[in-house]
Amino acid sequence: MSGPRLVLVGPMGVGKSTVGRLLAERLDVGYRDTDDDIVAAEGREISEIFVDEGEEHFRALEKAAVATALTEHRGVLALGGGAVLDADSRALLAPHPVVYLSMDVEEAVRRTGLNVARPLLAVNPRKQWRELMEARRHLYEEVATAVVTTDGRTPEEVTQAALDALELKKA
Ligand code: S3P
Repeated sequence: MSGPRLVLVGPMGVGKSTVGRLLAERLDVGYRDTDDDIVAAEGREISEIFVDEGEEHFRALEKAAVATALTEHRGVLALGGGAVLDADSRALLAPHPVVYLSMDVEEAVRRTGLNVARPLLAVNPRKQWRELMEARRHLYEEVATAVVTTDGRTPEEVTQAALDALELKKA
């Protein structure tokens, strides 16, 4: 079927864009990221959209960006960490090969820390993280064709594990 060769989902900071770019290189296809699409279309950073118009507005932009990218893109597609919250987006993902990149809480805090560019983790990152994952883990699992853990692995190792999990090779 048409659509991306591979879609990456998972929480913020797990390495979707780093691994996504490596996967695109390995498969010799393009890389696309719905967060980048939104920033380019809006001419503003995501943190600004959250502050100016709120999360609900951002989620509407994200839903549209996911639907468009799934139709247009033939390479590796990374989705923002909260894209799976939307039931319609989850349904759109059903026919596609989706890799859920996972990590545990300590790894998450180490990687995202007090990163102000990530509005959802700006205050008390460990607690926020736990709450986010409680709400989302089952949604990531629901859309995933394969789950690849990133704990203690280099981006190259994660890339190889994702290719192995989906048995993907250069076309
Ligand atoms: C979000 C994750 C971010 C971005 C926004 C909201 C989330 O994307 O879409 O800050 O709700 O988890 P990344 O997962 O690419 O950081």
